[in-house]
Amino acid sequence: MFHIKTFNAIAPEGMNRFEKDNYAINESDTPDGIILRSQKLHDYTFPKSVLAVARAGAGTNNIPVAKCTEQGIVVFNTPGANANAVKELVLASLLLSVRPILQGAQWIQSLTGEAIEEQAEANKKQFAGHELEGKKLGVIGLGAIGAMIANDAYRLGMEVVGYDPYVSVDTAWSISRRVTRANELADVLTTCDFITVHVPLSEQTKGMIGQAELAKMKNDAKLFNFARGGIVDDAAVLQALEADQLAGYTTDFADEKLLHNDKVLVLPHLGASTEEAEINCAKMAARTLKRFLEEGTIKRS
Ligand code: MLT
Repeated sequence: MFHIKTFNAIAPEGMNRFEKDNYAINESDTPDGIILRSQKLHDYTFPKSVLAVARAGAGTNNIPVAKCTEQGIVVFNTPGANANAVKELVLASLLLSVRPILQGAQWIQSLTGEAIEEQAEANKKQFAGHELEGKKLGVIGLGAIGAMIANDAYRLGMEVVGYDPYVSVDTAWSISRRVTRANELADVLTTCDFITVHVPLSEQTKGMIGQAELAKMKNDAKLFNFARGGIVDDAAVLQALEADQLAGYTTDFADEKLLHNDKVLVLPHLGASTEEAEINCAKMAARTLKRFLEEGTIKRS
């Protein structure tokens, strides 16, 4: 019999999301394992009883992994369990970047008086867009999410170029006929119409897309960051947008300086926010943690 705690599940009824996220384990708790989601626990010291921490999600940058390792605590994530949700949002964002759907809907809401249909027909030209088919998409990072996006973008008729020095055999196989693999990041930056980033945040990837990389991109290219804030240098992006060296930026990570800019779409970290993804991650985290505590092996399912 093992004792597993989930950070949100132990929070008392009636707490709001913020309070729940900051609700810590009681001093008297001695769990064997912990399951958590996005709670920012960089400075947290887990109780001595803890053998493993399961992150129900992909990124582990909210957990003090090095400190856990020193304490002998195993940390693992649930790769792929929310990949479909992120993929769908990235594809939706790509479509939103070429079709002014939100702007058109907002404008029509502002119409008043008679004959709205006629007014709409007469003025719709301002909301004409472009198509993704035939355009070139660069995918930086070909893990579970990047590979799914690459495959589906290909099915939408896009030409896809992928960059990732560490591709698994399974991924290489799944994308082999659809994605041209670039040897250098510059090959993606200089040739693509749309570039989407899907690497984890680490010392190596922090600021990976900065001034120098943005300067290599086509002036009419659009950049998407659904990976982590910090991988893309937002200040450099703003400069590039102002200088017309970049045509658009969509990010899932709020940064005050990006708000209220017509060329930027900022989302509140919605990538994995679907009921299905939350259930998938929770199940994979729970099963994997249970198996680890029972058998001492990390085997995800
Ligand atoms: C992930 O790391 O799995 C996603 O960004 C979603 C999340 O942080 O919850």
